[in-house]
Amino acid sequence: MLRTHILSKGLLTAAAAPLQTTTRAATASTVYNTLQYNQQQRSYASAKKVQHLPGAMNFTDALAVIKAMEVGKPNHVVEVHIQTNPKLEKHSQPIRSSVLLKKPIKQDATILVFAEGKQAEEARNSGAKVIVGGPELVKEIMDGQHKFDKCICTPGMFPSVTKLARILGPKGLMPTVKKGTVTDDIEGVIQAQTAAFDFRGDKNGVVHTIIGKVNWEPKDIEANYKIIMDQMKVLSQERFVKKDWIKNVYISSTQGPGIPLISN
Ligand SMILES: *[C@@H]1O[C@H](CO)[C@@H](O)[C@H](O)[C@H]1NC(C)=O
Repeated sequence: MLRTHILSKGLLTAAAAPLQTTTRAATASTVYNTLQYNQQQRSYASAKKVQHLPGAMNFTDALAVIKAMEVGKPNHVVEVHIQTNPKLEKHSQPIRSSVLLKKPIKQDATILVFAEGKQAEEARNSGAKVIVGGPELVKEIMDGQHKFDKCICTPGMFPSVTKLARILGPKGLMPTVKKGTVTDDIEGVIQAQTAAFDFRGDKNGVVHTIIGKVNWEPKDIEANYKIIMDQMKVLSQERFVKKDWIKNVYISSTQGPGIPLISN
């Protein structure tokens, strides 16, 4: 514990001080070793609350460390990993949500569009990655012929699409009027869906999502992070979890070790 404490303090100082170009590499490698050490502590730490995780830092400091580690790798991304506690939920459905980020991140999602005639034309001309079709497409989806990330349909096509409820439902992809994904405004919804950033949880209730690139302005990365964390609060209300739904949050770079964040 003592060793961890000292290392964490050193780490904070390293992160807080403006890094000189000449010392950057050395600092990054010290930081990296420290983080590897902290990573070994994680299984022990995971039973505890976020504030006590060894090496936990606030967002500003953690991002500074990651930027220092990734100097010279501008295309590496910054990710967050949000561990929720599915045990607090009565029926834990997969976590799946969309937000509008402050600084957009391109996802290149494929949208499955059930539409005919003029609306099918609109979809094909939208510039988005789309799979467009009528009732014949239902069978192709049942046969697993297509891969897609989102699904929308016109009200006229909805009766056919309900045949796919068992495939689309568990993935959270069933179009509904409430979500705005059963619509006559195919063009408008494709635009909105293309702008939206999707994130989802894995089967253990952990959300892994990109929040920016290592060479972006910290304020842009932090703004994206806040938008996602705010949406997690909305989700916890929708899922009727009162508190402590989020157990831990880690920030990391593309392949780097995770730094636990101090909750606030
Ligand atoms: C983050 O922590 C550092 C020191 O650990 C502190 O100087 C800084 O003010 C904190 N930043 C925020 C935004 O809380």
